[in-house]
Amino acid sequence: MNQDEMKKAAAEAAIEYVESGMIVGIGTGSTANHFIDCLAKIKGKIDGAVASSIASEERLKSHGIPVLDFNNVGQLSLYVDGADESNRQLHLIKGGGGALTREKIVAGGSDKFVCIADDTKLVDVLGQFPLPIEVIPMAQSMVAREIVKLGGTPELRKGFLTDNGNVILDVRNLEILNAVETETQINQLAGVVTVGIFAHRPADVLILGSPQGVKVLN
Ligand code: A5P
Repeated sequence: MNQDEMKKAAAEAAIEYVESGMIVGIGTGSTANHFIDCLAKIKGKIDGAVASSIASEERLKSHGIPVLDFNNVGQLSLYVDGADESNRQLHLIKGGGGALTREKIVAGGSDKFVCIADDTKLVDVLGQFPLPIEVIPMAQSMVAREIVKLGGTPELRKGFLTDNGNVILDVRNLEILNAVETETQINQLAGVVTVGIFAHRPADVLILGSPQGVKVLN
């Protein structure tokens, strides 16, 4: 089973969390795309979806799934999204696709966050994957200097702007031993819009596709 097949298996397994009449929060990325494709098969069961990116919104609409404005729907019951890394506490690194801010918003407004991934994403300590940070463009150099003080090596994601018109710094060489503390610390830097650590609001369920089948961590 290749990595994409494992992502697809995790996405298929997440469908069992979808209940009749739900408005489902939808993440971004190749695993979330598999979930959107699965959701399309049962689209009559749900009232609609809230998208965490323009790309996911377009994919949902292409399947005829109604996409609703997050401001008009209140608290969601379910959010389903991928991740770049997860530890066993279900603290995540997200933002490899650059959609971290809207993802954190929708995850934060959902009762249950089901994270779907292939099992190569499970790590003991977060930080092997470069940590994405969305930054207001004029603060890019200043935030980069602060990240260097924390021991990280930031690199501007070239030729990329987020759906919100901001830049992304990808930070290498950070060993994130206390994800809650590091999330708070980086969030507090002026100019940072969102750091891609999801620890204050971790996943509630992690579904991992693996060569041995699907594993679920709570
Ligand atoms: C998007 O910004 C990310 O948070 C994605 O959820 C993450 O990069 C996972 O992407 P894949 O599902 O494509 O691996």
